[in-house]
Amino acid sequence: MLKVLITDKLSDLGMDVFKREKEIQTDEVIGKTPEELKVIIGNYDGWVIRSGTTATADLIQAATKLKVIGRAGVGVDNVDLEAATKRGIIVMNTPDGNTISTSEHTIAMMMAMARKIPQAQQSLKEKKWERSKFTGCELNEKVLGVIGLGRIGTNVARKAIGLGMRIIAYDPYVDPAKNKGHEFEIVTLDDIIKRSDFITVHTPLTKETKGLLGAKQIALMKDSVRLINCARGGIIDETALYDGLKSGKVAGAALDVFEKEPPFDNPLLTLDNVVCVPHLGAATQEAQVNVAVVVAEQLVEALKGGRVKNAVNMPSLDPKVLEELKPYLTLVEKIGLFHSQLAESFIKKIEVEYCGELTKYDTKPLTLSLVKGILSKGMSESVNYVNALFIAKERGYEISETVTSSAADFSSLIKVTVRNEKGTHVIAGTVFGKTEFRIVNLDGNTTDFTPEGNMIWMAHHDRPGIVGRLGTILGSNNVNIAGLYVGRQEVGGKAIAMVNVDHEVSEKVMTELREIAHIQDLKFIKF
Ligand code: NAD
Ligand code: MLT
Repeated sequence: MLKVLITDKLSDLGMDVFKREKEIQTDEVIGKTPEELKVIIGNYDGWVIRSGTTATADLIQAATKLKVIGRAGVGVDNVDLEAATKRGIIVMNTPDGNTISTSEHTIAMMMAMARKIPQAQQSLKEKKWERSKFTGCELNEKVLGVIGLGRIGTNVARKAIGLGMRIIAYDPYVDPAKNKGHEFEIVTLDDIIKRSDFITVHTPLTKETKGLLGAKQIALMKDSVRLINCARGGIIDETALYDGLKSGKVAGAALDVFEKEPPFDNPLLTLDNVVCVPHLGAATQEAQVNVAVVVAEQLVEALKGGRVKNAVNMPSLDPKVLEELKPYLTLVEKIGLFHSQLAESFIKKIEVEYCGELTKYDTKPLTLSLVKGILSKGMSESVNYVNALFIAKERGYEISETVTSSAADFSSLIKVTVRNEKGTHVIAGTVFGKTEFRIVNLDGNTTDFTPEGNMIWMAHHDRPGIVGRLGTILGSNNVNIAGLYVGRQEVGGKAIAMVNVDHEVSEKVMTELREIAHIQDLKFIKF
């Protein structure tokens, strides 16, 4: 008998999917502490959660039989993905089920804020008749800045057009040409900040988006701007938002999500010009049924050895082929991640060449893994092996694949060329033995390094003293160098270097490094 643990309330229709399965037993235990969960989690093959449970590394470590974690919803920021992947546990989500609900909720929150509906209702319930106090503003003809044009952002933008709003949108991973002359104008972040009457954020919470709208950005906004966050707490810096609301620079904020939830001690809750609710974006009957039924069906299928759908951390592959391809899947995903961080502008063309022995396998999963790596910098956790190509197609990536039986000096080689308006980068990698994956060529320069941890990529002219100067600046800023790999095509010509460092390098130090003579370009790369 397979056992599934359910630790957040799942809609009845989702529970029915499990009940129909004779060989699956479900236990619904809501509201247990992590300590209590730790005692029982070892008995289960599957685990279903929503956002109320955090699947920590500690719990995953104790889940000795666990094969699948199913997240009824989009964000898997409450699952320690690394710990699950390490333990070979599939983590799956339901990326589409609550898009409509969250988009409608965003519009509802924007309207409630514009017309001060919650504040007015509260006043009336206190038996006050304060009509002029609650004068609001119209949405018609107002500029709505949408940050993040994924599923929800695009849906919100389309709905807002119907309300007569003028939409400008920013998403560095979306090709502006795709929207030329269409529904809305694609602009820069700076444009969004300066031109919008309302700004709504729909990105995942990543290192890049945390504090995307902070004090500096708010200062540049129109007076009386109104801000909406129905994505993840922290994309709009909460302290800066509080100050903006207090000073009157920001006329109102509509918040569904908070940096810390529940946000009981959050000073934003004390302000009259804040409309707030307890993370209700996906809280409709329809969305809850969608995500519950889909997660239950996916879990049943995966536990019974069938197809794995919407996996965030693994491709759907025959287990034997998967075993053979595993190191190459990791390698090519890292090449993708590297390319996404080198690219100066949105990516147009991806050319991948598979060479040597690995061409006897189906290379499609490798291309999926590459695209997943390229997309993972900007997308939420919902990019997976199932939808990576679909999203890439939507973004207008042109992907071509060639297969060659010879790999020159290697048994197998994967070479990936990425082109965009700002230039072209070529990265080639191989696997030594079964697990040692290496980058062996970078933009025509022979090299040999393992793409892992924190690295600095440097393009420079081959001159004496550059590497020494780099080492001195890193050393004086307490950054330890763990490895250094240089490559050049000719003496005195163009060269590259990859530097392994023990921890992340601040932007201040990166700026200092960029000032070294003969350095053309320098980037911090995280694998
Ligand atoms: P998605 O992956 O479809 O879209 C995210 C978009 O953000 C992508 O188009 C990506 O290119 C863009 N992006 C990434 N970094 C960016 C940056 N620095 N600047 C601008 N754009 C950037 O995700 P989605 O399903 O539309 O979800 C959007 C957000 O809403 C996620 O944070 C998700 O967790 C959250 N969400 C919240 C609720 C809720 O209950 N409030 C419900 C569902 C989803
Ligand atoms: C999600 O990521 O799907 C949403 O935040 C909704 C939720 O599950 O609470």
